[in-house]
Amino acid sequence: IRDNADQVAAHVADYLVARIRAFDPTPACPFVLGLPTGSSPLGVYRNLVAKFQAGEITFRNVVTFNMDEYVGLPRDHPESYHSFMWTNLFQHIDIPPAQVNILDGNADNLELECQKYEAKIQAVGGIELFLGGIGPDGHIAFNEPGSSLSSRTRAKTLAYDTILANSRFFENDINKVPKLALTVGVGTVMDAREVVIIITGAHKALALAKCIEEGVNHMWTVSAIQNHPLSMIVCDEDATLEL
Ligand code: GLP
Repeated sequence: IRDNADQVAAHVADYLVARIRAFDPTPACPFVLGLPTGSSPLGVYRNLVAKFQAGEITFRNVVTFNMDEYVGLPRDHPESYHSFMWTNLFQHIDIPPAQVNILDGNADNLELECQKYEAKIQAVGGIELFLGGIGPDGHIAFNEPGSSLSSRTRAKTLAYDTILANSRFFENDINKVPKLALTVGVGTVMDAREVVIIITGAHKALALAKCIEEGVNHMWTVSAIQNHPLSMIVCDEDATLEL
């Protein structure tokens, strides 16, 4: 627990840099990092960019897999998760573009795209660390309430609450928010050797309480991390209001 969101971001960025440096990745054995979008990781990305610019970390031997992407939104749309990741992180660091993986929400065959994504994760040896945020309803990636806790990468219809929450990025117009997304599954996240979740703000307090003080429950999909052997939640004081 940190005092505020800025301290959460600084802590997570310090932790990631320490993990990557200790791993000492090489081209043959890269550090495979799972990444989220949303406002929660923005401060972490700012800190990572600053650390890269200060020469504290290189991403040359890091391979990334993003959690999710909207279906049907052009890749260069400002609110696509492709745009988000390049704007907020990738264009500012030295990761080779070929080592960035983001689901293609415009693929002709969405099911095949999801299968290929899972296969690609396997081909690089699995994800070392999956960083995530959550929705106020406890969803991780786009694994909405009711998602199977063993789910894999697939297309998922967004819950009304998520469409409403994300409409702030689409001129507050729910009609402009895509209704379908591709997302890694809860099982995909849980397969990572380590999971780190950022939870900040009073609006996520109920989700944090459900996640750690109640049973593992597919209605609060982040609660699956209770069964993960190496996981950490980094939250701010506001998020602890219901504990
Ligand atoms: C979206 C993303 C999630 C993210 C959530 C919360 O639904 N698919 O991965 O955790 O938003 O976003 P924010 O961090 O902006 O609250």
